[in-house]
Parts: sequence; structure tokens; C-alpha cells
Amino acid sequence: MSRTPLIVGNWKMNKTIKETKDFCLRLKNELTAQKNGPVEVAVAPPFTALAAAAEAFLGSTIAVAAQDVFWAESGAFTGEISPPLLADAGCRYAVIGHSERRQYFGENDESVNKKAAALMKAGLIPILCLGESLKERQGGLAFSVVERQTREGLKDLGVKNPADLIIAYEPVWAIGTGQTATPQQAQEIQAFLRKLLRELFSPAMAQGVRILYGGSVKPDNSAELMAMEDVDGALVGGASLDVQFFVEIVQGARTKKK
Ligand code: PGA
Repeated sequence: MSRTPLIVGNWKMNKTIKETKDFCLRLKNELTAQKNGPVEVAVAPPFTALAAAAEAFLGSTIAVAAQDVFWAESGAFTGEISPPLLADAGCRYAVIGHSERRQYFGENDESVNKKAAALMKAGLIPILCLGESLKERQGGLAFSVVERQTREGLKDLGVKNPADLIIAYEPVWAIGTGQTATPQQAQEIQAFLRKLLRELFSPAMAQGVRILYGGSVKPDNSAELMAMEDVDGALVGGASLDVQFFVEIVQGARTKKK
């Protein structure tokens, strides 16, 4: 089964418009020089720099992702950004349900579900983030937490094309901590999620949907994580802010066996 690996850089609240342009032009150059297997690449700058990133990537296949979205199409929602506005800024993807949004901004499975539906309606691809906290893992709840987040987040979506959905398994205890999940820990949860997709959608969806791993992915652990059967790429935070590190992580994904 061949799922093209996808590496997404989540910049969080970092980089000005100028820094974005410089980074994206450099990234475009560096990736043109890379050889070996195909990998898809995207970066998720802050809202203010989305259009600048999209412009810098013109003429390449590198995509732009937003870090969040609101589910209404337009209207009186001061401070929010809709899926059509993201499409207009040049986005292909939007991250939803990131653990920082769940922790600090009241994101929950229900809002994630509304956001996923709204993105799909606008022709954008949701990158649905989920993952258990340290307490939940220690309490033996990792599987039940990610199951609930997947079932609720994807409720009533009726997705048919595997390319229309990305899932990112990000154990909260691994985000920004330097404590990466072991390849085996990532694999066992991600294989479980793939089985769940079969039940929720279809065997073809389970086969084709890409499931990324996120949480302290670095140049020196990217290849071993990607070697796992059900790890189809990475959502990279801290290490994606440095072009060289990010390029090395992409290179690591190119070694993935089909
Ligand atoms: P990290 O962040 O790579 O810095 O751990 C990952 C994420 O938050 O998506």
C-alpha cells in the first residue's frame, strides 16, 4: 500500500511575514535538490503570513496549512477566520484540535467536528490532531482517549476520498518536551486508529488516510519513526522553525519503504 509521506511544519506563534518569505524561498530551493522517494511537504505559519508563504511556494508543490479555523462561512464573528478565507490565502490544509488549542482555548471534540465539516465543505483538508495526556497514558487510557477523539471529531463526516483527511497522533506528553514517543508507541496507537477508520468509514479509507506522528520529531528520529508501517509522516513543531532541521526531517521521510 502506498501512502505518500507528508511532513507538516507547525510554526505555532512564530515568524514575521519577512521571516516567512525567507524561510519558504530557502525551503523551496533545498527541497528541489533532494533525491529519493516522494514526500509531500507543508508549512503552517501564523494567519498573518499565510499568503506570503503561498506566494513564496508558487511554482512548487509545497503546500500551506493554517493552524486553526472557525466553522462559519462568514459573518459577525470578530477575530475568527473562515475556511473560504483560508482558501483565499492559498491554504490547502488546516490543523484542527491541536492540544494547545484544546488546553488553552477551549477546543473540544464537538468544535473540532464542526471545523472538520466546514473545511471539507470549502475543499480544504483537515489535519485532525489528537492524543492522550501523560496522566491518561499512565492511567491506561491512551487507546480510549484517542478513540473518543477520533469518533467524535469525525462524527457524521461521510468522507469517501482518503486524500480528504489527515490525522495527526500527537501524545501531549511528547509535544515540545523532547520526549519523543518510541516508534513502537507511535505504531501501536496509529495501527489502532487505522482499524478504527475501517469501522467508521471503509477499508479503502483505512488504507489510504495518512496518519502523521507529532511530538518532538527531530532530524535524528525522523527516519526511525517513518519506518513504522502506520506512520505516514510527521507534524513537526519546534524543529520546523529551522530550515536545515526541517529539510533533514523531510529527508528522513524519503527513506520510508513502500
Ligand atoms: P514539537 O511540537 O515538535 O515541538 O513537539 C509538535 C506539535 O505541537 O505539533
